[in-house]
Amino acid sequence: MASIPVKTAGGNYSVRVQPGLLQNLSAHVRKTGLAKGKIFVVTTPEIWKLWGKKFLASFAKDTAAPEILFLPSGERHKRLASVEKLADAMVERSARRDSLLIAFGGGVAGDLTGFLAAIYMRGISYVQVPTTYLAQIDSSVGGKTGVNLRTGKNLIGSFHQPAVVLTDPKLLQTLPPRELRAGLVESIKAGVLGDGAYFNWLEKNCGTLLRGDLNALAQAIHVSVRIKARIVSADERESGQRMLLNLGHTIGHAIEAATQYRKLLHGEAIAWGMIAAVRLAEARGALQSAEARRIEHLLLRLGPLPKFSTTAQRLLQLTDADKKNRSRTRNFILPVKIGKAIVVTDVTTKEMLVAIRSMMQTVQEMGA
Ligand SMILES: NC(=O)c1ccc[n+]([C@@H]2O[C@H](COP(=O)([O-])OP(=O)(O)OC[C@H]3O[C@@H](n4cnc5c(N)ncnc54)[C@H](O)[C@@H]3O)[C@@H](O)[C@H]2O)c1
Ligand SMILES: [Zn+2]
Repeated sequence: MASIPVKTAGGNYSVRVQPGLLQNLSAHVRKTGLAKGKIFVVTTPEIWKLWGKKFLASFAKDTAAPEILFLPSGERHKRLASVEKLADAMVERSARRDSLLIAFGGGVAGDLTGFLAAIYMRGISYVQVPTTYLAQIDSSVGGKTGVNLRTGKNLIGSFHQPAVVLTDPKLLQTLPPRELRAGLVESIKAGVLGDGAYFNWLEKNCGTLLRGDLNALAQAIHVSVRIKARIVSADERESGQRMLLNLGHTIGHAIEAATQYRKLLHGEAIAWGMIAAVRLAEARGALQSAEARRIEHLLLRLGPLPKFSTTAQRLLQLTDADKKNRSRTRNFILPVKIGKAIVVTDVTTKEMLVAIRSMMQTVQEMGA
């Protein structure tokens, strides 16, 4: 499978998606020309236990083995304190400006390692080797790196593009099914906002993907990455097009906050958020009802989405705190047909409330 180019002011690089790629990881890393000094790998104990041996096997013939640094797994460790600990460990092990970092893990390890690379000695190169479906199609591409604050998610960070993204769909063989389903929500999002043919393909291949078929997964990742790469290449810093990637996220983020980030995985909250966005678009006549039902149906086919309880008012309040809002107008990503979404600024509070209420009704009826 060919690699997908990403072109940004912050750097050009490619995303390679290939089942079995892990076997040749070292060769792919060396091909960047950036492995001149020591190589440092940031991973979690869980992932290393599952895949560490295979990871190291490809480096066996190299003169020096990479140094492994551990980050405890979980979103709660995506904090500045972890960055500082890792940076100290790097200094202790003589990491210099020509050292290369490899992020080997899900979005948490990827975002944090990217940020560490952005600021370690004012910036060193890094490579993404994503291990969750979400990280493979979304967080490893585009160069957004960062950590959470006590007061909010991803509030400290930097744009720092990787030297290359090396994606092996085989890594997903050990991923819990719920994580895969939640990740697939973002693929449906990509189809809805930017590629109708891909959406049709997802409708046909949903079952195959959920069974973990390697070829289907590789294909899905490839197309999702292509869509994200196209958008990020046009708009690295989210002044226009990149905002489209937030489809379903205004209300989805509110749901995550209302449930203290505990009850739902990110993708599950986004699925509910997309259902609300679809209802809002349908209500203002921007999206045909038949298409609205197809989008909802596909989201719900991924498996039961968890129920949650809060009020529509509370969610509305929380959307107003959405950091993506520019000044007073509320940016909202509106799906207008399968394959196209637009940014609008004229969504009223009333429209939001009606859409949120309608979605909450479905949560009661269909949530698990
Ligand atoms: N930078 C971006 O553009 C961007 C985009 C979307 C999301 N994100 C960030 O990504 C993070 C979420 O990423 P995530 O969903 O990958 O979460 P994660 O990194 O926490 O991984 C989810 C779970 O899967 C486990 N896991 C990972 N790979 C595995 C494997 N191959 N086999 C078995 N278990 C495995 C992890 O241990 C963890 O328990 C959030 O912090 C979010 O803010 C960033
Ligand atoms: Zn998302």
